[in-house]
Amino acid sequence: MLIRYKKAFEKIAMGLLSFMPNEKDLKKLQQTMKQYETEENWQLYLWKEEDIIGLIGVYKTDEILEVQHVSVNPSHRHEGIGKTMVKTLKEMFPDHKIVPNNQTAAFFEKCEREVEEQ
Ligand SMILES: CC(C)(COP(=O)(O)OP(=O)(O)OC[C@H]1O[C@@H](n2cnc3c(N)ncnc32)[C@H](O)[C@@H]1OP(=O)(O)O)[C@@H](O)C(=O)NCCC(=O)NCCS
Repeated sequence: MLIRYKKAFEKIAMGLLSFMPNEKDLKKLQQTMKQYETEENWQLYLWKEEDIIGLIGVYKTDEILEVQHVSVNPSHRHEGIGKTMVKTLKEMFPDHKIVPNNQTAAFFEKCEREVEEQ
């Protein structure tokens, strides 16, 4: 289930965000968190099963959702959670086009290739 970020999830969200190659620096990570907490267009969603094990963050305009961050707890990778988060986001925002940015493009392309192959 994809749930909207709230402050109570700050630590787990920061932990997941820190797996992104461009969020290794603590100052940058703190800035990113602040952006998600304070800016209306920056929205963070968490994947919750029993625990919170994934994160997807977007920059939202009227037409698009640009995926800025996508991360899954290393103990739960290769279970399809990354792909499921992208798919769930599409279902939640059917009128928006979901696009990657430079940091998330590689995984996105992998997801799209697999959809085409099906
Ligand atoms: C990318 C990530 C979110 C995928 O999560 P996941 O739940 O394991 O993804 P899924 O199970 O849905 O899909 C797994 C597939 O994605 C591929 N994949 C993982 N990371 C990838 C990357 N950076 N670029 C391209 N493909 C990637 C895997 O090779 C795997 O393919 P396979 O099943 O053929 O081996 C996870 O690996 C992660 O948290 N990585 C660290 C954060 C990161 O680098 N995010 C940006 C990625 S561009």
